[in-house]
Amino acid sequence: MERVAVIGAGAVGDALAGALRRGGLDVAVGVRTPAGPAETTVADAIAGAGAVVVAIPGAAVEAFAAEHGPALAGRVVLDASNDLSGGHDGPMHHMDAWASQAPGALVCRAFNTIGHENVSAPGFPDGVADLFWCGPEAARARAERLIAATGMRPVRVGGPEAAGVLDGVARLWFTLAFTQGRGRRLAFRMLGGGGEA
Ligand SMILES: NC(=O)c1ccc[n+]([C@@H]2O[C@H](COP(=O)([O-])OP(=O)(O)OC[C@H]3O[C@@H](n4cnc5c(N)ncnc54)[C@H](OP(=O)(O)O)[C@@H]3O)[C@@H](O)[C@H]2O)c1
Repeated sequence: MERVAVIGAGAVGDALAGALRRGGLDVAVGVRTPAGPAETTVADAIAGAGAVVVAIPGAAVEAFAAEHGPALAGRVVLDASNDLSGGHDGPMHHMDAWASQAPGALVCRAFNTIGHENVSAPGFPDGVADLFWCGPEAARARAERLIAATGMRPVRVGGPEAAGVLDGVARLWFTLAFTQGRGRRLAFRMLGGGGEA
């Protein structure tokens, strides 16, 4: 069974670990202070996994990449974090830090564009949510298998350089959910668009 590490056991980490397990993957949850049999250290979780989902506060990502960068070499990293410390207009991603601190990792942005409730329950009366993601072509098979395991349809919007587009999708979600008051039970679906991009 394919092993996936989920780093962080907060709202997003919990939602993703549950969704990936229901999708048939072997999930190791890596946390700083393991508690109970379902959790392990970050280092152990990474060591046994081909893909690593990062669900920690955005402000912690740079230090995380520096500490674990060497161990992440050759692995697919799906960074779900959003860093709002620079305000709502600046980048919410850390692709520059990933590139410098974890140059051997295949770093993608995924699961950052919708609230965690929708990861837990991607089905809506009007269809199943799509999950926009970006990352290197070499990560595609593993990244899309993992996203599909959560029940969502993966839609790749580009390589790592498209991280700003994913920030924009997250901002659209914030605007609809909070500014407009539509609520957190909200996700996206691409209509049409042809086949594989
Ligand atoms: N909430 C959402 O709906 C949502 C949706 C999309 C994306 N996001 C983004 O996803 C990330 C996680 O959000 P969340 O709502 O799950 O946050 P959360 O509930 O606060 O959980 C954060 C988790 O990260 C761990 N953590 C904190 N600092 C860490 C570090 N330096 N190294 C390793 N683990 C660390 C925390 O564990 P300990 O502090 O106990 O060690 C905790 O398990 C954030 O960047 C957020 O912007 C959130």
